[in-house]
Amino acid sequence: MIPTDELALLESRVQRALCSGDDSALRVLGYGEISLVIGWPRESPRWACKRLPTFASSADADAYTETLDAYLEVLDRRGVRVAPTTVRRTAVPDGRLAVYCVQEVLPSDSLAVEVVARGGRTARDLLGGIVDTALEVVDDHVGLDAQLSNWALMEGQLTYFDVTTPLLRGPDGSERLDTEIFLASLPPVLRAPVRRFVLPGIMERYHRPRSVVLDLSANLIKEDLEGWIGTVLAAVEGRVDPPLSDAEVYSDYRSDARTWGLLQAVRRADRLWQRKVRRRTYPFLLPARIQR
Ligand SMILES: Nc1ncnc2c1ncn2[C@@H]1O[C@H](COP(=O)(O)OP(=O)(O)O)[C@@H](O)[C@H]1O
Ligand SMILES: [Mg+2]
Repeated sequence: MIPTDELALLESRVQRALCSGDDSALRVLGYGEISLVIGWPRESPRWACKRLPTFASSADADAYTETLDAYLEVLDRRGVRVAPTTVRRTAVPDGRLAVYCVQEVLPSDSLAVEVVARGGRTARDLLGGIVDTALEVVDDHVGLDAQLSNWALMEGQLTYFDVTTPLLRGPDGSERLDTEIFLASLPPVLRAPVRRFVLPGIMERYHRPRSVVLDLSANLIKEDLEGWIGTVLAAVEGRVDPPLSDAEVYSDYRSDARTWGLLQAVRRADRLWQRKVRRRTYPFLLPARIQR
């Protein structure tokens, strides 16, 4: 596992990138809605370090870790293979805690996006495997984000790796995760409306098998793999009600792109405001531009 001093060094680079707004000293593997995925060491990454929004206290970090552990356990029980993941934390200068989910870096040719891009039988089997897993595993209690960008083939086996957002509900149907971490990167005035009107819908989608596979299909457009939508729809056929159609996939893609595009635009505007007017450090690294 990544040594403690290396993680502290990585965090200091992140801090420097936040202050300067320049992330070129970091090897960014992915900008998520919640986490920033950094490859470490920069030159030849061994670890994928997924940095969450900072936590105020160690009690909050403990609660997060417990939820993640519970999620990993239930996925294991339901037969989903997950890339080994450990949670690490390191102090931030302002006294808060930076929490990282750390995994080994998977070779890029093992990532599902690349496997499908190579095509053939393996691509078809992989997509079929994701559909089977989503339809078998997802329910009111356990959610999955089954987009292609969250899977890999490890030793030939379908493996899920996007676990930083544990999609787990308690017996009363409420999210186990403190969903405030979704809101941390939004300007304060927007948090209440997003919490109330946007978030419940987003969370619900991950808990309905039909919308999870719809999202998988729609996301193929973003990955430039539209040609594979038919394969997913064929694998889903007869297993969801009402059936999925091409038209629904495209309209879902457009509405999803609008939602996330809007959130991204809001963050950019807030960053500009914080930096130029308030003269503060904006505490997140945003992607340069997301292709939709
Ligand atoms: N263990 C890993 N090895 C290699 N690349 C990874 C790994 N984990 C994540 N990535 C890359 O970073 C992207 C985002 O990571 P992910 O875990 O899906 O988080 P999120 O979608 O919440 O940002 C992935 O699609 C993948 O390209
Ligand atoms: Mg992901």
